[in-house]
Amino acid sequence: MSDDFHTIIEPFRIHSVEPLRMTTKEQRESAIQAAGYNLFNLHAQDVLIDLLTDSGTGAMSRDQWAAIQHGDESYAGSPSWFRFEAAVKELFPFRHVIPTHQGRAAEKILFSVLGGPGKVVANNTHFDTTRANVEATGAEARDLLIAEGHDPAVLHPFKGNMDLESLEELLSERRADVPVVFLTITNNSGGGQPVSLANMRAVSEICHRYGVPFFLDACRFAENAWFIHEREAGQSAREIPDIVREMASLADGMTMSAKKDPFGNIGGWLALNDDALAEQCRNLLILTEGFPTYGGLAGRDLEALAQGLSEAVHPDYLRYRIRSTAYVGEALDRAGVPVVKPIGGHAVYLDARALLSHLPALAYPGQSLAVALYQAGGVRSVEIGTVMFGRQPDGREVPAAMELVRLAIPRRTYTQSHMDYVIEVVTDVASRASSLPGYAMVYEPPALRHFTARFEPVA
Ligand code: F0G
Repeated sequence: MSDDFHTIIEPFRIHSVEPLRMTTKEQRESAIQAAGYNLFNLHAQDVLIDLLTDSGTGAMSRDQWAAIQHGDESYAGSPSWFRFEAAVKELFPFRHVIPTHQGRAAEKILFSVLGGPGKVVANNTHFDTTRANVEATGAEARDLLIAEGHDPAVLHPFKGNMDLESLEELLSERRADVPVVFLTITNNSGGGQPVSLANMRAVSEICHRYGVPFFLDACRFAENAWFIHEREAGQSAREIPDIVREMASLADGMTMSAKKDPFGNIGGWLALNDDALAEQCRNLLILTEGFPTYGGLAGRDLEALAQGLSEAVHPDYLRYRIRSTAYVGEALDRAGVPVVKPIGGHAVYLDARALLSHLPALAYPGQSLAVALYQAGGVRSVEIGTVMFGRQPDGREVPAAMELVRLAIPRRTYTQSHMDYVIEVVTDVASRASSLPGYAMVYEPPALRHFTARFEPVA
């Protein structure tokens, strides 16, 4: 951005392009029917604008592709590993860095050691894989989000904050049962909303007073740091890496999906300070992922991530990233489409409960909206509501706290005209939302049902 002008432009130009495949409405209607009305079952070739996830779907930079050529595939002690470890520690100076093939592998390893029946893991809001990995050990995954975070329409600069009173209450009653407290930054399942540095400091203080480890689920740490820079008193003069290092200094460890802010197509890590815990985790890593100097990754992936990490904290990129997401959300808001406000970092979340108020939660209003967006314009989104979170460990099906449809924006991938098209499609579908059908789930797998469930529209 030149100093004299206000338009925030993509801080890159296009170097290599991928064709998009156009489809007709008839083709999309038969594709989604064949997919059991589950957008995860579509062939990606049948999708025009893919906003299913921002995970692993971003564009790598010239310098990341160049770094891939430096990938050294030595089984042990590769120079690519040492570059990766140094890049992680530059931002997150934890004593131990344990590379995994993606975020959930880090979760699986950590909760295998810390979880178990009778334990309670607290989080502002557990992401679906995090919750599933906690519950798979028999432990309880408890969400302790502030009340504002549950209301899509309430404005609050840090709607991802943890409710400190509830945390204090949990720890004072059941300290011995709580092996770890997490903060998810930004809070993906709660609208991509950030957590303030003040809240992280307070959570850290409470945890340490009770002797409970505090971890970050840090997939979108750079976006969270940018929100702190923009919104939190006294933070605007600080460099982004400096804010990130303070976040890390408050925690005892982190899990990471490097498929988000670090611009990886694959990758993740677990990092922590506790030597004994790190040893247990490394032993599990060797069982399921690989040797500790590559984990689940190739040397070339480690190189791409090391380079990506340095790009993720660049202010020109983050200003564009947050602004371009807000551009979509604000346009929809102006058009009268109910969205989670303020607009999150990596995604715009449509409020399907408000928009499809004729449908009860168990008719899956979010799923209905997501299917309609695909049928109308080839836009793929994801339901974050009762389909994703409705099934309880005890077998009951209950409405989720919110019925959202997420338009996740891959990093550096789509242009403003792609987003203008998305705005047009969403606005069109929203104008006839009250005529969209409910859905029944006709196949449900035992866990993480949203990925493979099948549906049918109900008349
Ligand atoms: N934690 C959060 C907050 C996430 O958003 C994700 C993934 C994970 C953990 C797991 O990481 O996919 O590398 O195993 N979120 C993706 C999404 C899948 O679409 O939001 P992973």
